[in-house]
Amino acid sequence: MKLANLQNLIFQFVVVKSVLVYPPPNPIKFPTSDQQTLINGDLLTDPLIVETVKHVESKVSPKILAIPPSTFIQDSTVTYNAPDPSAAGTCYWAVGQCLRSSDTSDFQADISICKNLNEWGVTYDDGPSTQVPGTKELLSELTSQKLLTTHFVVGTNVLLYPDLLKQIDAAGHQIGVHSWTHHPLTSLSNAQIVAEIKYTEGIIYKTIGKVPIYFRPPYGDVDDRVRAIISALGYKNVMWTIDSSDTSGIPNSEVTARMTKVFEGTNPDTNTSLTTGVITLEHDYLDNTVTSLAALNSYKTSSKLLKPQPVGQCQGLNSNQWYLNSDGSNPANKSGSTDPSKPNTSHSFKIQNILFIFTIIIVTFLF
Ligand SMILES: *[C@@H]1O[C@H](CO)[C@@H](O)[C@H](O)[C@H]1NC(C)=O
Ligand SMILES: *[C@@H]1O[C@H](CO)[C@@H](O)[C@H](O)[C@H]1NC(C)=O
Ligand SMILES: *[C@@H]1O[C@H](CO)[C@@H](O)[C@H](O)[C@H]1NC(C)=O
Ligand SMILES: [Zn+2]
Repeated sequence: MKLANLQNLIFQFVVVKSVLVYPPPNPIKFPTSDQQTLINGDLLTDPLIVETVKHVESKVSPKILAIPPSTFIQDSTVTYNAPDPSAAGTCYWAVGQCLRSSDTSDFQADISICKNLNEWGVTYDDGPSTQVPGTKELLSELTSQKLLTTHFVVGTNVLLYPDLLKQIDAAGHQIGVHSWTHHPLTSLSNAQIVAEIKYTEGIIYKTIGKVPIYFRPPYGDVDDRVRAIISALGYKNVMWTIDSSDTSGIPNSEVTARMTKVFEGTNPDTNTSLTTGVITLEHDYLDNTVTSLAALNSYKTSSKLLKPQPVGQCQGLNSNQWYLNSDGSNPANKSGSTDPSKPNTSHSFKIQNILFIFTIIIVTFLF
């Protein structure tokens, strides 16, 4: 046996073990903090990414993985290329805000509402941010109002501002994954989508020692291919019911008016009473986010108020269920058992360790 083959064999055991077993391994290196740069080149041939792509291919039907990527134009703008973006086809969200409401063999249903009418799942995307106001001001306002919320963080920002992520976590908020580069995911290859998620998961784990169970796609840009990859990596795809419109350029006062309507149980898009619990979309880095949050204080005397909370909480999960368990199982799985995509941990551990030791013995024998 050639040395290269042998090394490859050892590598396979180590890597297979590390990809599928908790905690997630470090990649050889992390991408840069530049959100303009797509994840490419040797960042896609990192064993962590290669092995995870294999895992995705073993879980998702080839037909779904063959849905053609969209063409990236700029920011959130893409040209969608699959022939039928409707629910009967690929359920591309940007066309009619298509959502999947039930699980299939390829992906899990999207989360887009809170379960009960009086619940408000509050989400802040794109942090951590050092803008002023930004994550720091947001956190202190949340703390002073005794609110807990969900924060979908960007890998590049975690790399730049790890202490801010630690502060979000230490304050008791829920942390979810929001990609590394913030590119619209339908425009990326399967391997690039895997890389966006795994590198962000890796930097979050490296920073706070936790692996989230929720994922928010940048710009809500998902179709069934993206959904399937998110699901295969163990994440629930979390969309939203109401956009605060904080990124739309409307005056701060209008963002505040929209969010206070939500607080009082009214849908600001229709001015009618809410008929489900809602999830809202806001952003760490915008001054109107903090302004509108601060404004909620003066409405607290009103009678019919929603209860702001993390999305995990309104899905019926306790705070100790917002991250993977230390055996790699997903606590959001109501049946209480491990995702079958993951090998029976204790069992596979044993087999892999035996094979590994066996390999070491061969190596020792040959050289
Ligand atoms: C809802 O009410 C606001 C004023 O509070 C108004 O500007 C908006 O046009 C109304 N929207 C609809 C759909 O009626
Ligand atoms: C939960 O576990 C069951 C039984 O092993 C499995 O069929 C299901 O796919 C799992 N769901 C998730 C979300 O992991
Ligand atoms: C996992 O493996 C352990 C030990 O190898 C075994 O006792 C257990 O029943 C297995 N669980 C499942 C769900 O297969
Ligand atoms: Zn975003």
